Amino acid sequence: MIVINTLLSLVQPRTGLEMVENSLSPTAITDNLETHFIGQRVIYFPRLTSTMVVAKRQAQQGATEGTVVIADEQTAGKGRIRRAWLSPKGSIALSIILYPSLAYLSSLIMVASLAVVHCIVAITGLKSQIKWPNDVLVNGKKVCGILIESSVRGNILDYAIIGIGINVNFRLSDFPEIPSTATSLADELGRDISRLDMIRCLLAEIERFYLVLPAGESVYQEWRDNLETLGKKVEVTSDRTTYRGVAESVASDGSLLLRQSDGSLIKIVAGDVTLCA
Ligand code: BTN
Repeated sequence: MIVINTLLSLVQPRTGLEMVENSLSPTAITDNLETHFIGQRVIYFPRLTSTMVVAKRQAQQGATEGTVVIADEQTAGKGRIRRAWLSPKGSIALSIILYPSLAYLSSLIMVASLAVVHCIVAITGLKSQIKWPNDVLVNGKKVCGILIESSVRGNILDYAIIGIGINVNFRLSDFPEIPSTATSLADELGRDISRLDMIRCLLAEIERFYLVLPAGESVYQEWRDNLETLGKKVEVTSDRTTYRGVAESVASDGSLLLRQSDGSLIKIVAGDVTLCA
């Protein structure tokens, strides 16, 4: 177990076995963590611009697989499509460094979102669903966003980073800048939960799903079964073009298969989905 506390922030880091509800303890994350490699090395910041930025630097320097960069609070969190991601205190904001083969890159979004769905029900009892491609919703509102960044050279994947942001112990009413389509676990439950339990669950579940990827179908099928988007009339914006139709299915590479009104079926690799009225 390796724990790195950093002083790069203005706020003093917390160390040792101290477990404070308001802040995370890196040793409490790693202690007796039932994983082989994911989360066995934790780099913790009380306050940071973005865990993706530090994770990328670490990956470029050859950090061990499964290294986790985690922050209590992000000041410049990154969302998909160059959007900002707000991670106030009480959020979970972490990035995990992985070195899979290129063949598994498109499955990482399935691994991450399924792990989030499993851990939300395990820790809170709340049922959640996945909105294609990678949002996790509770009661129809976004509670978690996932960002995958990678470096590919030819057929070689240098590294992949899974970034996970979960709205946990804060009230959306205190953050009017966060869209009303979002929620937090505390808002849905009416009480705070242990972020530590949630993080430890996530690390174990991500490793479990990651290790079964070579077995093929199982992760894809379970991901598909948890997608709330399928069967619905949707608008999908991809590369500044909007497509309308019924979200019929997903391919094993994670693409959305959209049936348009003229009967044609198109494959959309990445995009933003909104439900049609
Ligand atoms: C999205 O829904 O747009 C994806 C949001 C991803 C946010 C997480 S929080 C941890 C990691 N660090 C970041 O800066 N972004 C990701």
